[in-house]
Amino acid sequence: MKLIKSLSMGVIALSAIAYSCGGGSNSSDSGSNTPPAATTSTAESVSLEDKYKDDPVFVAGSAKAKEAGCTACHMVERKIVGPSYADVAAKYENNAENLELLTSHVINGNVGVWGEVPMPAHPHLAKEDVETIVKYVLLLKK
Ligand code: HEC
Repeated sequence: MKLIKSLSMGVIALSAIAYSCGGGSNSSDSGSNTPPAATTSTAESVSLEDKYKDDPVFVAGSAKAKEAGCTACHMVERKIVGPSYADVAAKYENNAENLELLTSHVINGNVGVWGEVPMPAHPHLAKEDVETIVKYVLLLKK
């Protein structure tokens, strides 16, 4: 009992120290951090659509994605049936290899990367059109 008591006293003492340190740095942080925190929340409130809307890759790709019906299952920043484009862009580096890989997944269909739900094949789409869309998807990095 004695041992437990002195242990728990130790814990209380330690947490008091941690609290006072944390409290101290918190109060000084909150003063200096307020402006950057405000800037961050403004940056986050700018959607990826707003961020890239003037990029020709975005303009061409988003139009084609609508035309091809990708928007039925994909949104830019929200998962619906398929992953959000932002999640895809976060997972894959924007390079020629991934452009090729993802283009083939879209044309041939694929399953298992994001879960159990398969993406159907899109064999009727021209490869260049799918590439235009995939370039746009990979552009959408936060
Ligand atoms: C019927 C719903 C549906 C449609 C339509 C659809 N997708 Fe998908 N998409 C999915 C699902 C589900 C996944 C996840 C597949 C997986 O886990 O491998 C996916 C995955 C993806 C990925 C990531 C692939 C990977 O290997 O990581 C890309 C890129 C993509 N889709 C682009 C498109 C494009 C471009 C179109 C339009 C031509 C399209 N999708 C149309 C459902 C769809």
